[in-house]
Amino acid sequence: MEQYAICGGNPLVGEVEIGGAKNAALPILAASLMTDETVLIENMPDVRDTNILLQAMEAIGARVQRENRHAVKINGSLIHDLTVEGDAVKKIRASYYFLGALLGKYKKATVVLPGGCDIGCRAIDQHIKGFKALGASVEIAHGMITAEAPRLRGAHIYLDVASVGATINLMMAASMAEGRTTIENAAKEPHVVDLANFLNRLGANIKGAGTDVIRIQGVERLHGAEYVIIPDQIEAGTFMFAAAATRGDVTVKNVIPKHLESITSKLLEIGCEVSEFDDAVRVVASRPLGHTQVKTLYYPGFPTDMQPQIVVTLGLSRGTSIVTESIFENRFRYVDELIRMGANIKVEGNTAIIGGVPKYTGASINAPDLRAGAALVIAALAAEGMSTVDDIRYIERGYEDFHLKLQKLGAQIDKVESERELQKFKLKIG
Ligand code: EPU
Repeated sequence: MEQYAICGGNPLVGEVEIGGAKNAALPILAASLMTDETVLIENMPDVRDTNILLQAMEAIGARVQRENRHAVKINGSLIHDLTVEGDAVKKIRASYYFLGALLGKYKKATVVLPGGCDIGCRAIDQHIKGFKALGASVEIAHGMITAEAPRLRGAHIYLDVASVGATINLMMAASMAEGRTTIENAAKEPHVVDLANFLNRLGANIKGAGTDVIRIQGVERLHGAEYVIIPDQIEAGTFMFAAAATRGDVTVKNVIPKHLESITSKLLEIGCEVSEFDDAVRVVASRPLGHTQVKTLYYPGFPTDMQPQIVVTLGLSRGTSIVTESIFENRFRYVDELIRMGANIKVEGNTAIIGGVPKYTGASINAPDLRAGAALVIAALAAEGMSTVDDIRYIERGYEDFHLKLQKLGAQIDKVESERELQKFKLKIG
């Protein structure tokens, strides 16, 4: 049983390199199957979700060749199976991106219905509505979803919610549909734009990604390309809040500061100093931090994937803060764990009311999902004394070398696999 052993109390200080965006890499990997020519993808994060997706691609016949840890060549010319299934792929949400990619190219796909983090009901009605508008029939049976169309035809699609997943899936399918598709109320997240840029590099004709309205002129075939994935906005934001919560001084490198604006503005508001460079941001928390209010929103609003990290930080800030979660209905489950560390937080519906406390104390805690897991690690790093964080497989879904990057910033954190290793860690920290 792997867990993180953490001895808190040290400010994080130094520089950290951010990797490629997981939530851009996942659709880009799926979309790379849409051409018969070879695609080279660089700045690929080496995290559990991308690796599971790559294995699923190999299982249906794609050739996957690792150039190095962060670069992969993919060739989808020999795909022999349009059914994507298996226990591993069922556990990741992004498996549904095979629907849009394979439906676009082969006009048929069957995919095991996705799981993912347990952060609330994760409907896929907008994906289905969009596929149907493009002319596909969609059927769910025995835990699998099948989309099929003799021909895909461009359509006008209005999304009832600006869903990231639906926008991405429909963009992929529509890229190889006949005629013109318009997606209104489209998601505007940086990874939506990154996928559009990637598809355009393959020869697709997509305009307007990053705005509410995306226009796609379908093409008959796509070709090979080389592509570098954008930096991970959420990994960067996680380290920025880790700096704040531990009263540290961290330079987060290889980022696009524009993607971090909502995060930067909250850090400034609570009293951190944030300096922006071309491809880096530095967060210094030298003064006591203050309270604020924040509501998670679609991009460019404050991301739901940063909600647990800001709550952990506000829990250690002066005064009363209010955090409202407006995207997922079950994303405060980690608060119980935080309360066990001494936090003063009350959750009412989709709102957390946070009374700042001077310190947290170490405890044995469980990571309930990816982002909450990372946030609890931050809490443990800021806390007095020793903590263990279990279920770190969730954290490893989306953070590459999380504990190693934290170690470089001076954190006392180790990944341990046995009681013996835990005792060794305890001896090491004294
Ligand atoms: N929704 C619907 N119908 C749909 C699709 C979504 O009602 O057909 C609702 C959902 O129930 C939810 C909201 O719309 O309340 C947002 O869902 P969205 O589809 O935008 O999210 P997603 O595509 O399932 C991606 C990320 C999440 C991130 C959200 C929001 C991936 C693989 N996942 O999920 O990332 O929280 O967008 O930005 O890209 C994470 O990385 O930790 C993570 C959970």
